[in-house]
Amino acid sequence: MTTIKGAVALVTGGQRGLGKAFVEELLAAGAAKVYATARKPVESEDPRIVPLPLDVTDPASVAAVAAQVGDVTLVINNAGTTVRGPLLGASRNDLEEVFATNVFGVVAVSQAVAPILARNGGGALVNVASVLSWVAGAGVYGGSKAALWSVTNTLRLELARQNTQVVGVHLGYTDTDMTRALDVPKNDPLDVARDTIAAVERGETEVLADEVSRVYKAALSGPVEGLALQG
Ligand SMILES: NC(=O)c1ccc[n+]([C@@H]2O[C@H](COP(=O)([O-])OP(=O)(O)OC[C@H]3O[C@@H](n4cnc5c(N)ncnc54)[C@H](OP(=O)(O)O)[C@@H]3O)[C@@H](O)[C@H]2O)c1
Repeated sequence: MTTIKGAVALVTGGQRGLGKAFVEELLAAGAAKVYATARKPVESEDPRIVPLPLDVTDPASVAAVAAQVGDVTLVINNAGTTVRGPLLGASRNDLEEVFATNVFGVVAVSQAVAPILARNGGGALVNVASVLSWVAGAGVYGGSKAALWSVTNTLRLELARQNTQVVGVHLGYTDTDMTRALDVPKNDPLDVARDTIAAVERGETEVLADEVSRVYKAALSGPVEGLALQG
């Protein structure tokens, strides 16, 4: 359970898309300060928003951020990237970029902030995964989010000893730059952010932000309609 009122948060990729929604909703919920990173950050008129440069694939950049956020109590690993197309057609560069950002980047940031969270009483670490943690067919990106689910669950076990709450967030299509080209129903990022923050405050460990995420997660422990097994 992590109190948002008065909290100091770090949101990776916090200057656009879902990350920007996290920043807005954290402040609306009473956070005192939010470090909002981007690879090319812009200043904010709101003094509570502190822009920081961060490329999660660059260890020196991760270390530089960690050195500046000694007061942080809530970290949201939101930064992520995608490439479209079948896995069989993916280049080595596609594979490396997506896994470097969505998996290795999350691990690197988590390793860097874990001692800070410990010093500040435990706090919370939130990883933005996807419904694709559990659904095949989404190429390199899907593979990275399935890996991130496992990484998140292991971080939860390892960080329990320092009293850090670790939360996995799972969502389907959400209205950001990432899905701009897709003509499908989409979540409002502000709703996803608000639900996640409420779950953090309730001490929960997993956010199923929409119906598609709830259905696929439930299917992992069955029964699936029309597929009931006998005996
Ligand atoms: N939109 C969806 O339908 C959807 C569904 C499920 C999960 N998600 C997940 O939600 C998270 C946010 O995505 P979004 O929808 O807001 O996508 P987006 O609009 O494409 O934004 C991507 C964000 O990630 C940051 N980022 C990308 N590569 C980075 C790197 N190497 N280092 C640091 N930051 C980097 C970007 O920061 P810059 O400003 O530096 O570019 C940007 O803030 C991602 O983890 C994504 O996988 C999205």
